[in-house]
Amino acid sequence: MPRTVEPLQIGSHAIWPPIVLAPMSGVTNRTMRALYKPFGLGLTVTEFVSSNALKFGSKRTMEMIDQAGIEKPVSTQLWGDDPATMAAAARVVVECGADIVDINFGCPAPKVTKTNGGSACLRDPQRCEEIVRAVVGAVEVPVTVKMRLGWSESDLVYIDVARRAEAVGAKAITLHARTARQFYRGSADWAHIARLKEALTIPVIGNGDLADAQVAMQRMRESGVDAVMLGRATLGNPWLISQVRDAMEGRTPAATPGAADRLRFCIEHYRAMLADLGERRAVPQMRKHVALYLKGIPGAAQLRERIMRIDSSDEAIATIEARIESLEAEPVAA
Ligand SMILES: Cc1cc2nc3c(=O)[nH]c(=O)nc-3n(C[C@H](O)[C@H](O)[C@H](O)COP(=O)(O)O)c2cc1C
Repeated sequence: MPRTVEPLQIGSHAIWPPIVLAPMSGVTNRTMRALYKPFGLGLTVTEFVSSNALKFGSKRTMEMIDQAGIEKPVSTQLWGDDPATMAAAARVVVECGADIVDINFGCPAPKVTKTNGGSACLRDPQRCEEIVRAVVGAVEVPVTVKMRLGWSESDLVYIDVARRAEAVGAKAITLHARTARQFYRGSADWAHIARLKEALTIPVIGNGDLADAQVAMQRMRESGVDAVMLGRATLGNPWLISQVRDAMEGRTPAATPGAADRLRFCIEHYRAMLADLGERRAVPQMRKHVALYLKGIPGAAQLRERIMRIDSSDEAIATIEARIESLEAEPVAA
């Protein structure tokens, strides 16, 4: 089948398919990235890591940047507002296996923006340029930037910041087409993504609200972007990734599996988290994932509520297995 799009080129990495898993703090840990990659991700990105925290190198921070055993290429994302600290952090993450260093100019969370990090950097394009220049100068691997449109509707700096980043050596830009002030309200405005693509020569990765393979392909065609980044819609639904890959490879996207198969994969995810993190950390983290896998499954609300109260992985897995059995006994409901 003929490919309908080209690989995403970031520096020397030719990335196929041009589908990137969005970095999601508290969600896209290494277990999840390894588990979702075979569905058809060309590139995965770590949760964002504070460049300041890397100075202290706590066990948790080092765990977040350890890319050993993760299928290549992989990108590690950093945030911070100080060019020298970001440069030092970039050297550390490359030592820990990053093939690409991504700079976060997008996070709107107050705990990040109050120290001028994440999307708050967009209030000072000159500072953004200095950060990108410092990181590019510190490492041999390609450096990329992920950003929002600007701090607010009246201050859309994305083209200015992206051009500055390109001029000092950034190798790709991801644009989540919302302002920081919007958080997740309204919808991502892909017309801005198309404008950015026109304004740059380096690749542009479009991001925001993609939840369907046909829509993803349409947005890609209309905006001319080099790749799509998929975020929230993949949670509990990694089959979306395969559907986008199918469309990119010229196939009709495979149907989403039935409820019982989705829950079987949820158990696989649970077991992988247990193996990597142990009972004490995996059980609370899996509650949100299980809730997402349950979406659209008959009786989801009661089951979700039960799982929220369960403190043992054996009991949680047995509860999901019981639901699989009952779904198989009533195939029409699945
Ligand atoms: C729970 C959560 C955590 C996130 N953490 C990060 C992060 O660490 N770094 C980042 O650049 N974006 C982060 N984002 C933003 C996503 O990468 C993405 O830009 C956004 O969700 C829009 O894409 P979507 O509509 O496909 O979800 C996060 C989003 C969510 C929902």
